[in-house]
Amino acid sequence: MSRLACVGFAVLLGSVAVGIYWNYDGFDPESLRGATVVITGCSSGIGEEMAYQYARLGAKILITARRENRLKEVVAKAKSLGAQEAHYVAGDMGKAEDCERTIQTAKEKFGQLDYLVLNHVGSTKVSNAPERILSGLSWDEDPDVDYFVDFLNVNLVSYVRLASLALPLLKESSGHIVVISSLAGKVPFPTQTCYSAAKFGLDGFFSSLRVELMKAQQDVSVTLVVLGIIKTQGIVDYLKHEAFLKAAVPVNETALAIIRGGATRAREVYQPFYTWPFATLRALWPGVLDNIAVDVDK
Ligand SMILES: NC(=O)c1ccc[n+]([C@@H]2O[C@H](COP(=O)([O-])OP(=O)(O)OC[C@H]3O[C@@H](n4cnc5c(N)ncnc54)[C@H](OP(=O)(O)O)[C@@H]3O)[C@@H](O)[C@H]2O)c1
Ligand SMILES: *[C@@H]1O[C@H](CO)[C@@H](O)[C@H](O)[C@H]1NC(C)=O
Repeated sequence: MSRLACVGFAVLLGSVAVGIYWNYDGFDPESLRGATVVITGCSSGIGEEMAYQYARLGAKILITARRENRLKEVVAKAKSLGAQEAHYVAGDMGKAEDCERTIQTAKEKFGQLDYLVLNHVGSTKVSNAPERILSGLSWDEDPDVDYFVDFLNVNLVSYVRLASLALPLLKESSGHIVVISSLAGKVPFPTQTCYSAAKFGLDGFFSSLRVELMKAQQDVSVTLVVLGIIKTQGIVDYLKHEAFLKAAVPVNETALAIIRGGATRAREVYQPFYTWPFATLRALWPGVLDNIAVDVDK
């Protein structure tokens, strides 16, 4: 074999090894059979799809959102797909009593809790969350502080509230907290002020909670999920840019990537892959990323 061929072969072997290392996460689908899971924001989008994927894996699920008619349909489909149990709580996560009712119901139905998957996104001020998030309005054009307070209550405070209520149960079961964030929770973009405030806030709170739990030697994992553009109905309806839609990845693959990350106690999940270099570059060279963010928005 020529020297060149040897080098080529070694590089190939090395790449395969790195590829296997990167993709190997020790995920065992069987670990989810009978696992108890609370998922928020399940009347549409990624939350609804996660409910179906957990169901296929034989989990016991409790789902939440405000639209009860939709939750009934999702519960029925989850049961038909193989969920050992499927329950719902219809409620507004912006209300403390509805968060309490959610975790209380999980306690009553399951007697324990393995997973808390925090996924909902919305606002009490506008009917459809993407409407404002994707409106294209800058803060300067529409500095609506009442909207901001409500948005943080629904998308940041409620996540903290639900996790706090669930933590005693999760500690007993060496459980998992999964927090759905966004590239906008790692990188600032124009027109995303409120959304970024909530998602950066989730990173700050839950990354701190993670190290607190580590320090206290509590075996509860915290997985932060950094999502790019996912092909949910909301995104398809509102995204006008052809190029952005092309970059969007399927909801079912995303739901499975989140479930894998939670089950394998990953610190963070990046889906799709391009969110990782952006987040990493932003941490290293924030000024360069500011310029890219300004250009992307044009
Ligand atoms: N799709 C993307 O491209 C994308 C990109 C990055 C990050 N993400 C993140 O992924 C997660 C899921 O997003 P998605 O695209 O699947 O959103 P979606 O389709 O709009 O679903 C949002 C869910 O949250 C529920 N919800 C909204 N306000 C609520 C409230 N006050 N109380 C309780 N439930 C409420 C909605 O149900 P009701 O209206 O029935 O209450 C719905 O089930 C979010 O955390 C989002 O930030 C998504
Ligand atoms: C997602 O859906 C597509 C098309 O329906 C299917 O081919 C693919 O196998 C699914 N992937 C997962 C992870 O469920």
